Amino acid sequence: LPHTALPSPSFPMPAWGALFLLWAVVEANKDCPERCICHPLETMGLGVDCSGQGLTALPALPVHTRHLLLTNNSLREVPPGAFDHLPQLQTLNVEQNPWHCDCSLTYLRLWLEDHAPEELHLIRCASPSLATGRPLSQLTGYELGNCGWQLQTSWASLGIWWDIALAAVAILGLVLLVGLLCLTTGPWH
Ligand SMILES: *[C@@H]1O[C@H](CO)[C@@H](O)[C@H](O)[C@H]1NC(C)=O
Repeated sequence: LPHTALPSPSFPMPAWGALFLLWAVVEANKDCPERCICHPLETMGLGVDCSGQGLTALPALPVHTRHLLLTNNSLREVPPGAFDHLPQLQTLNVEQNPWHCDCSLTYLRLWLEDHAPEELHLIRCASPSLATGRPLSQLTGYELGNCGWQLQTSWASLGIWWDIALAAVAILGLVLLVGLLCLTTGPWH
């Protein structure tokens, strides 16, 4: 005859531990992005592994994300403020992505400078040609480009028009002056 286990009057400790772990895993996966794996960390917060998923955009990340893996995807840019709602985020791995290193990557660069400077050296830019193959940490602010560039060019072209307008006024003035001189000196000849 098989043994029939008697129901124990109270859960032994390992059972409570297993229940807690189960709850933590369920909690962890509630807000987990579709193509990522989330696991609870002993130190609270979540480890979120989205590596090698062919992601072309950042997924919506759970608010308790502490360690985030985005390596080996097809990410080109990070929208400004992308990690602002993740106060617990501590480590970020983003190597092996075709990063487009222009001004749109300034937010990522500043975030890494503040939180994980060593990661900054591991990020290789795929484009634009000026930055291809170079680590993000080596690019100057000038090379990344200024996001206010549009404003600057429009001001610059406005400056050119202003110069042209001034020159036109000056020439007109000169023509008038010459005309006036001819008119006033003309009758004497
Ligand atoms: C990168 O991810 C692809 C799937 O997108 C996988 O096939 C490949 O093995 C991964 N490469 C590395 C180096 O992890």
